[in-house]
Amino acid sequence: MSVNRGKWSSDFGFILAAAGSAIGLGNIWRFPYTVGEYGGGAFILLYLAFVALIGVPVLLAELSLGRSTERSAVGAFKKLMPDSWWPAVGGLGVLCGFGILSFYSVIAGWTLSYFYMALNGRFADGLSSEQSTQIFTELTASPISEVLLSAAFLTLTALVVRGGISGGIERAARILMPIFLVVLLLLVGRSVTLDGASEGFAFLFAFDFSKLSAAAVVSALGQALFSMSLGMGAMITYGSYLKRSENLPKAAVIVAFFDTGLALIAGLMIFPALFHAGASPAAGPSLIFIVMATIFNTMPLGSLFAIAFYGLLAIAALTSTISLLEVIVAYFVDERQWSRERATWVVTAGCFALSVPSALSFGGSSFFTNMFGGTGFLGMANIVFGNYFLSIGAVLICVFVGWKWGIGNAVAEMDSGGKLPAQAFWGILVRYVCPVAVAIVLVYAAVTGNYL
Ligand code: PFF
Repeated sequence: MSVNRGKWSSDFGFILAAAGSAIGLGNIWRFPYTVGEYGGGAFILLYLAFVALIGVPVLLAELSLGRSTERSAVGAFKKLMPDSWWPAVGGLGVLCGFGILSFYSVIAGWTLSYFYMALNGRFADGLSSEQSTQIFTELTASPISEVLLSAAFLTLTALVVRGGISGGIERAARILMPIFLVVLLLLVGRSVTLDGASEGFAFLFAFDFSKLSAAAVVSALGQALFSMSLGMGAMITYGSYLKRSENLPKAAVIVAFFDTGLALIAGLMIFPALFHAGASPAAGPSLIFIVMATIFNTMPLGSLFAIAFYGLLAIAALTSTISLLEVIVAYFVDERQWSRERATWVVTAGCFALSVPSALSFGGSSFFTNMFGGTGFLGMANIVFGNYFLSIGAVLICVFVGWKWGIGNAVAEMDSGGKLPAQAFWGILVRYVCPVAVAIVLVYAAVTGNYL
C-alpha cells in the first residue's frame, strides 16, 4: 500500500521542509501580537519552557510514530491499534488541519496583497498610521478581495502539494527557506538600529509575571504547539516520509531551535520598529500589517524593505500551508487510496469553502465579524483549532506513545538513526509531564472560564 507514498530525497531536505512547516505566520504574525497582548517578557519565558518541556518531546513522539508506521495521522494509529478508537485521534488532527488551513489561508492572502502593494511603492511616500490603518481596513473589509486572495493562496499551496514529497514540498522548501533567512536577517539589522529600538527591547525582556493570566498560559502553550506544527499529525505525516537513517533527536532539536530562534528574531524585528513608530504592541492580529507598513517610509530604502518583508511573510506562510494541506491530502492518499492529484484539489476546494466565513470576518460580513462576542469567526477558529484542538491532540499523542505504543518501541525507532540522549527523561516527559501539564492548563482555563 505504501508503494507510491514518496520519500524525502535527503535528510537535509526533510529538515528544511519540517523547519518550513514550523516557521510560518505563527512566528512572524501570531507570536509578536500574542506577546504584545500578554505583556512581553514573562510570556516569552513561559513560551520557552513549553517549547523545551512539551514541544521537543511531542515532536520526537510524532516523528517516531510517523516513521515507524510509514503512515499519516490516521493510518499511524490504525496500523498500531487497528480495532480501537485511537485512529480517531488522527482524525481529530486531520480536522484540525482543515480548520487551521481555512483561516491561515486568509492571513496568508493578506501577505500576497501587501506584497503586491509594496511592489507598487505603496509604503514609500510618507504613509501615516491613519492611512496604513485605512489600507488594512479597506482590504480586509472587501469581501471579494478577501475571498479571492484566500483562494489564490490555497491554489499556490495546492500546486506544490500535488507535486508530491521530494518533487513538490522538498523542492519548494530548498528554494524558499534560504531566501527567507537572508531577508529576515536584513530586516532585523534595519529594525534594531532605529531610534527608539531600546524601548522595544525593554518590552521584550521585561518579566512582569502579574500579566500571566490563565488565558496567557493557554496561549503560550497553544503558541508553542502551533509554532512547532504539533498536536495535529503534521509531524507524524512528515516523519512517515523519512528514511530509517535520519537522526530524529538531532532533527527535532534543529527544528525546535530554528523555530524558536526565528520567533524571537521576528520579535526583534517587530518590537523595536513598533516602538520607533510609537504604536501599541496590543493591536492584535492586524499588528504586523498596520504597524510595519507605517515604518517602511521612515527608513532609507524603505520601499525595498517593504517588498522584502511582505515577500518574506508570503514565503513563510507558504511552507506552512503546504504542510497543513499535506496532512489532509496524505489521509486521503493513504486511507482512501485517492490519487494525490484528486486528493489535493478536492481538499483544497473544501478548505476554500470553510475559509469564506473567516475571510468575511474583518468587516466583509457583519455577522461573521461580530460573532462570538466580537471575536469573529476567524478569531474563534484561531483559538479553537490553533490552541484547543492542538493541545488536546498533543495530550492524546503523548498518552498513546507513552502508554499504548510504549516508550521502548519509540526509543527503538529513534535508535535506528541516532541515539536519543536522556531516554528515561524523555519517557517521563511523554508519559507524565506533557499530558498532565497540558491537561491542567486546559482544565484550569475551562474552570476559570478565562480561555479567550
Ligand atoms: N507552524 C506553523 C506556523 O508557525 O505558522 C503553523 C502550522 C503549520 C500549524 C502546520 C500546524 C501545522 F500542522
